[in-house]
Amino acid sequence: MKDSVQTKTILRALAGETLPTPPIWMMRQAGRYLPEYKATRAKAGDFLSLCYNPELAAEVTLQPIRRYGFDAAILFADILLVPQALGADLWFVTGEGPRLSTISSQSDFDHLKPASAIHDTLCPIYETVGILRRELPVETTLIGFAGAPWTVATYMIAGKGTPDQKPAHDLRIGNKVLFEILLKRITEATISYLSMQIEAGAEVVKIFDSWAGSLKGEAFQKYAVAPCFEITSALKAKYPQIPVIGFPREAGDGYVGFHSATGVDCVALDNSVSPDWAASMVQKDGCVQGNLASRHMVTGGKDLVSETRAIVKSFSQGPHIFNLGHGITPDADPENVSLMIETVRNN
Ligand code: CP3
Repeated sequence: MKDSVQTKTILRALAGETLPTPPIWMMRQAGRYLPEYKATRAKAGDFLSLCYNPELAAEVTLQPIRRYGFDAAILFADILLVPQALGADLWFVTGEGPRLSTISSQSDFDHLKPASAIHDTLCPIYETVGILRRELPVETTLIGFAGAPWTVATYMIAGKGTPDQKPAHDLRIGNKVLFEILLKRITEATISYLSMQIEAGAEVVKIFDSWAGSLKGEAFQKYAVAPCFEITSALKAKYPQIPVIGFPREAGDGYVGFHSATGVDCVALDNSVSPDWAASMVQKDGCVQGNLASRHMVTGGKDLVSETRAIVKSFSQGPHIFNLGHGITPDADPENVSLMIETVRNN
């Protein structure tokens, strides 16, 4: 264990070390911008079949590691597998995104399974983790993940992605009791799911709260900070050596103090915050991850290089993991990813 901590740069940064070159990985690094991903997805049939096929899910997780030599691999799966394992119907509409059966009444909630039942559905995911731990290069860290309860709830309530999360806000205001028991069910399931990923070999876990930015003030504290604290505390009690990355996307001022309020080892930043601001206000409390705008993976060129250098420089005085501010998009050019990595490593 000690040896692997010393050789894996991501684990060193997560332990608080300031490295001369930040380690790097990329959200959605296995995805549709890569021709080899599209080929494997076609072989699996569709996206969900790919998620539940351990051999093929491990294969697409490894593809960006082989192509680029990222310092971390992120398990190939999706945050919406947890609602599916709780009994929601889930399907993906090409060109539009996810669709789920909705939760709008107590009776909808009563049809969900208990958190302890999720492993019946999710056991192939743990198998994928096991394959990856055997096949990844020794220097590459394996990151497991789950969605944060608020973000997962927004999809379960609306039955799809929404630009403003209005159905979820309406429920949290209009039927607080139902909203809170739903959040509690998702929180329990998430602790159990991440525990099983760790048992199977995940070395770090990341909690994606993609819609945290639409929670303001007290609601942000109650529904973004508190669930992240609960999940992190439960994991730390069982697995004190496993670092946790929190990503309260578009939290703005909510990023300040997020490390200490939740207990996460690293706060991932979206690209709406300035690196200089985040270095003084957030990185002072621990490791940060981010935060190049993903559009640079489409546009490339000298702006990509100068922005990448600026981010590396801003965060050079503390622990930093280089990443995008959100996932890479399908229209990205794979060559721009190489240019970003080269710029970070030859800075
Ligand atoms: O980052 C990785 O490479 C690991 C795998 C991963 C996926 N989704 C694969 C995926 C991870 C970590 C996620 C997280 C996820 N999924 C989030 C949180 C992060 C974020 O992006 O904000 C959310 C909100 C989801 C839900 C989800 N899954 C949506 C809204 C969509 C459709 C959007 C789109 O790009 O089509 C997905 C599908 C999805 N998840 C794809 C991938 C590679 C594309 C599916 C395909 O191959 O068609």
